[in-house]
Amino acid sequence: MNIGPYCLPNRFFVAPMAGVTDRPFRQLCKQLGAGYAVSEMVSSRPDLQDSLKTSRRANHAGEPGPIAVQIAGTEPQMMADAARYNIDRGAQIIDINMGCPAKKVCNKWAGSALMQDEALALSLVSAVVQACAPQGVPVTLKMRTGWCQAEKNAVSLARAAEAAGVQMVTVHGRTREQGYKGDAEYDTIAAVKAALKIPVVANGDIDSPAKARAVLASTGADAVMIGRAAQGRPWIFREIAHFMATGETLAQPLVAEVKSLLLSHLQDHYSLYGEFAGVRSARKHIGWYVRGLPGGEAFRARMNLLTEGVAQTHAVADFFDELNTRMDRLPEPALNRAPLEDRKPETVA
Ligand SMILES: Cc1cc2nc3c(=O)[nH]c(=O)nc-3n(C[C@H](O)[C@H](O)[C@H](O)COP(=O)(O)O)c2cc1C
Repeated sequence: MNIGPYCLPNRFFVAPMAGVTDRPFRQLCKQLGAGYAVSEMVSSRPDLQDSLKTSRRANHAGEPGPIAVQIAGTEPQMMADAARYNIDRGAQIIDINMGCPAKKVCNKWAGSALMQDEALALSLVSAVVQACAPQGVPVTLKMRTGWCQAEKNAVSLARAAEAAGVQMVTVHGRTREQGYKGDAEYDTIAAVKAALKIPVVANGDIDSPAKARAVLASTGADAVMIGRAAQGRPWIFREIAHFMATGETLAQPLVAEVKSLLLSHLQDHYSLYGEFAGVRSARKHIGWYVRGLPGGEAFRARMNLLTEGVAQTHAVADFFDELNTRMDRLPEPALNRAPLEDRKPETVA
């Protein structure tokens, strides 16, 4: 499928996740079969643009294109400026966040709160589209099904966004009110797909190749986007690609491969964050990789005490070497994965 002029290798996307889908993780997902990745949300506020956090989020060094940057904000002009700012720094696609339920975002009338005010949402979309058009940069939109159960306005908003020039819409199958509770529903996504000509991406609770196939079939969506199920399991994309192509389930990865993937993920992570911050922020990724594995919980607790890169990487290598004496491949995901509801963002409303 295409987003504007960009032809994507497949229709299995990694979802933007603040604090997770940094450049090293996006690259790993792409290497392991994700056809597309969007950066973590960056604020449109100019006073934050030079912060260390934002500049790390805007780091795309060596990332295979197209480079997609997600922006969030409430002021149309500020969002248009943010789009131009990110294009100047290498963004090839601009994604507008209308799906984030985080209080710190929504209290400032951004993220999914925008879905409550369609007129404001559309003026913001139009301002961004106009800012991007001269540079030929496509604009995409990520939203929820609506503000609350009684106000599911995804179809009308998506239609209006398409008319305003948006080139792809992603829908997370929950309302803002739901946060991450309950199950994602796909009927609204199917209705959005039926109403639009541009590509529609289905998102929410997709955690296996079989679920990806079922969601693609029931919604008619052009692509699926996977968030939490890719945490600690970036090879889920090649599993989905294989299943969709052959109908067969790919064998679980070799323990030795996971060890080597995680070790190179850690090196890349330290190189982006520096050793001090990197060792600390890598702990959550390591925790996800070992979650449910024999000895994983105890290892996770021990990991939190290590403060140096060498100690962290040695401990990881030892953990997987020891695991390898007991098994060649990771156990089946059903046996070693925690439910998705345990993995919501810390800032969720
Ligand atoms: C830790 C975390 C951070 C997230 N950050 C963002 C974000 O920055 N922008 C965004 O549009 N969605 C964000 N989301 C929502 C995801 O992109 C996705 O819509 C949601 O997790 C549902 O998909 P899933 O069930 O596959 O995880 C985040 C989700 C998580 C779990």
